[in-house]
Amino acid sequence: MTGKIKKARLFAALLALLLVLSACAMPQKQAASSPEEDLVMVGFSQVGAESDWRLANTQSMLSAFSAENGYRLTILDANQEPRNQITAIRRFINENVDYIVLAPTQENGWETILSEAKDAGIPVIIVDRMISISPDLGIDAESLFTCWVGSDFRREGDTAVAWMEKTFGDKPLNIVHLQGNLGSSAQLGRTEGLDAGLEAHENWSLAFRASGDFTLARGQELVEEVIRDGLLDPSVPDAVNVIYSENDNMAYGAINALKSAGLRPGEDVFIISFDAARTALHMILSGEISYDVECNPLHGPRVRALIEQLRAGKTPPKYTFVEETAFSKDNLTEEIISSRGY
Ligand code: AHR
Repeated sequence: MTGKIKKARLFAALLALLLVLSACAMPQKQAASSPEEDLVMVGFSQVGAESDWRLANTQSMLSAFSAENGYRLTILDANQEPRNQITAIRRFINENVDYIVLAPTQENGWETILSEAKDAGIPVIIVDRMISISPDLGIDAESLFTCWVGSDFRREGDTAVAWMEKTFGDKPLNIVHLQGNLGSSAQLGRTEGLDAGLEAHENWSLAFRASGDFTLARGQELVEEVIRDGLLDPSVPDAVNVIYSENDNMAYGAINALKSAGLRPGEDVFIISFDAARTALHMILSGEISYDVECNPLHGPRVRALIEQLRAGKTPPKYTFVEETAFSKDNLTEEIISSRGY
């Protein structure tokens, strides 16, 4: 064998070795990028960050839709503005996500954007609050989403009213009503519950009603206004002053306002609230909040379970109502509070 042939063989052997090595390296490169490609893309249009409830809800979604669980979750915070949610959903459609999750700020106004999602073939899961479509539009609201999971807000309102009946009996009630975002299911259901109570009880009267947007700051401002206007005067004989606050954060604001004015929550004014977040439950034990109807924010695993059913080719239930309870001093302990997830 000549020197030239030897060199050519050596070169060919080296080339073959290089090809084998690079072939071995290729699958590794693919393996590094394929998990990202395999992740299920979920776009979540969240209402905002207005309350403890909402923060717990966002956290629950983040944990449930982690990359370890096989998901790539994009959350867009709408800052309580429905038009921001429409922009967010349009972006998810353009990105061709696998699933859209919508927590609607309010019930109305979804027909156009959800029809676009439907035309794009992207399943929409609605969480927490509900949507509704005006009958004049002739569109079946149920055709615009795949399934829903959330709370029965009317039942929450009824639960609060039943406690007020039982606790205050025939005494005259002077009620200050702090509403959530007008037009949201949480506001509508809880307000309907109170309206039914007002209708049924001649001894109940509504002194004030306005929206505090589910925020501490607005709740505080409203109750400061109410106190300035003399609508929560503890010296009026026989009157039981009640604040019916449609969420805990507004109740915290109300408590700040009462205390600054020298009024005692739980003695001069009774506070009924919704959500039953941890801070509020401590305020029940300290007597500042009298009753709190639970609204459970831990929807992440529930939404994931619905998506997993869809991915497995199954048909999940159209509506899933979450079981909820309510707390007063009579059924609450520190152990119960620390055993809860929020
Ligand atoms: O829709 C659920 C409501 O929204 C909660 O009661 C409130 O705290 C939140 O902002």
